[in-house]
Amino acid sequence: MKKRAIGFIDSGVGGLTVVKEALKQLPNESIFYVGDSARCPYGERPAEEVIAYTWQMVNFLLQQDIKLLVIACNTATAVALNFVKNRVSIPVVGVIDPGSRAAIKLTKNNQIGVIGTPVTIASDVYRQTLRNKSQALSVRNLACPTFVPLVERNHLSSPAAYEEVARVLQPLQQSDVDTVVLGCTHYPLLKPIIQRVMGDAVSLVDSGAETITDVSALLDYFNIAELSEDTKPTTYRICTTGDVARFSEIAHAWLPDISFAVEQITL
Ligand code: DGL
Repeated sequence: MKKRAIGFIDSGVGGLTVVKEALKQLPNESIFYVGDSARCPYGERPAEEVIAYTWQMVNFLLQQDIKLLVIACNTATAVALNFVKNRVSIPVVGVIDPGSRAAIKLTKNNQIGVIGTPVTIASDVYRQTLRNKSQALSVRNLACPTFVPLVERNHLSSPAAYEEVARVLQPLQQSDVDTVVLGCTHYPLLKPIIQRVMGDAVSLVDSGAETITDVSALLDYFNIAELSEDTKPTTYRICTTGDVARFSEIAHAWLPDISFAVEQITL
């Protein structure tokens, strides 16, 4: 049987933050990534549109014979996870349950902040997930609509990016949250400035690491993990619907240890 890849989808480059963790925790696995940069951001679109676009990416990857799907986008996870799970026969992993688990592990005062796109925050899915696990938790939501465009334009550390992050996060900064969930997979690319704004006493949760721990457990459970003794080479295919040059610049800077050429696709 040929080596089957794990599929990753996102509205753009954000899901690469989850791929980065996969490379660390699952170095034997082949990866097939689709970022829908041409239609990014998803975070201010109607839920039906996000579901339709997500489903197009899923279908593209199913045709590539992936063995497991990671919805590496909080917005798509918030509104389309169950839709996708009900329609495919491979395991599907979203980023919201793992991110919530990581936040519960980290908080000491039970005050958790969640930042995300307007769609993710409006869905209130983090609060519901966290409070279903523990009524002791208090959750403060904050939508950050300007962060994804900053990342897609590769403005990750400029003074203007810092000012914008500081402006938007002010309500959280003035609260007593000790843990903030980066509830959008684009946000780990802004992590250094988010950390600077929030201060070192606040823990930031990047759901990627916890998500890949779930993926690893599922690969073992279904007995579909690639083992080191497997001699077939590991492959990386990274695709975008948008501008290849801009996507490549961010992708290669974020994933410096693997070799790949970004491919352009249409969905
Ligand atoms: N990375 C996506 C997320 O996690 C970004 C959504 C968007 O395109 O607005 O929510």
